Amino acid sequence: MLDKAGAVPRAAWIEIPSGVWPVTDLKLRKIPFEFSGVKFIWNPENPGFSFFMNQVSFWAIGLERYFCRAVADAERLITDPAALAEARGFRIQEAQHSLRHTHHVRALIERHPGLQQALDATIDCYDDIYDRHDLKFHLGYAAALEATFTPVFRTIIEHRDVLFGNGDPRVSSLFLWHFCEEIEHRSSALIIFNALYGDSFYRMRMFRHVRRHVMQNFETMAALFTAHVDEGPAVRPVRNPLAAVPLRDRLKLQAGLLASQMPWHNPEHERLPVWADSWFDSYERGEDMTRFYRGPDPAGQALPTNA
Ligand SMILES: [Fe+2]
Ligand SMILES: [Fe+2]
Repeated sequence: MLDKAGAVPRAAWIEIPSGVWPVTDLKLRKIPFEFSGVKFIWNPENPGFSFFMNQVSFWAIGLERYFCRAVADAERLITDPAALAEARGFRIQEAQHSLRHTHHVRALIERHPGLQQALDATIDCYDDIYDRHDLKFHLGYAAALEATFTPVFRTIIEHRDVLFGNGDPRVSSLFLWHFCEEIEHRSSALIIFNALYGDSFYRMRMFRHVRRHVMQNFETMAALFTAHVDEGPAVRPVRNPLAAVPLRDRLKLQAGLLASQMPWHNPEHERLPVWADSWFDSYERGEDMTRFYRGPDPAGQALPTNA
């Protein structure tokens, strides 16, 4: 159980089994993000998007821990070596995402202690469905939701300049790392689900549960954020956090979301954002990824202090 201080303990869902690993292309990238003194509205040019991304940060901790617990259970049943490799690669990436978002969220809680309630709420919410449902539900949930991530995160990456802008590069870089890796492992949840169940229509029907559950979680966090964060009138949810994205691309996103839920959908065939390749190349060259994205005007940007 994640402790109430927001620390991620070493636990079964994060442990890597010893012995010979099957081959996987998915990599564990440990990027030492730090967030001391981070502001809740970390991008004053786009407070609605800042609010939304903070919801994602809290949500990711509970969600990805849930995915890791379910996939660890699945690994005990999967016999296909390629699917097992994918499951382990997926789990170590998601565990790392959950850990790094915990560091971001812990810094926000330090500044606004009432936000601990939002962290507890998202963890409790995912513990609850883990306890109440079976493995097919959990893996169907993961496959349905992860299928939406490539169209959503591709849109965000391609419009990063108007969304992240010249906001705190530590926060922007955290999310852009996470979204690049989500696109990298875009097929994993489907491969894992198919290895044990392969029921496309079940997966398709799961989406309405997933959508309702995620929206409830986001609404709970929005209420707790507005109750506990005192950083001025900008601290409120907006109807459309992607409003800065041109309408044509928002419509393409809606079409992509619909397509992602079709029984025949294969995330492997998705169009990928070119910028993600440059992120991976820079990582391989050993660049500092903790402040990799500095916005459209990095020269004019004042780097955040710890104040
Ligand atoms: Fe993730
Ligand atoms: Fe993922």
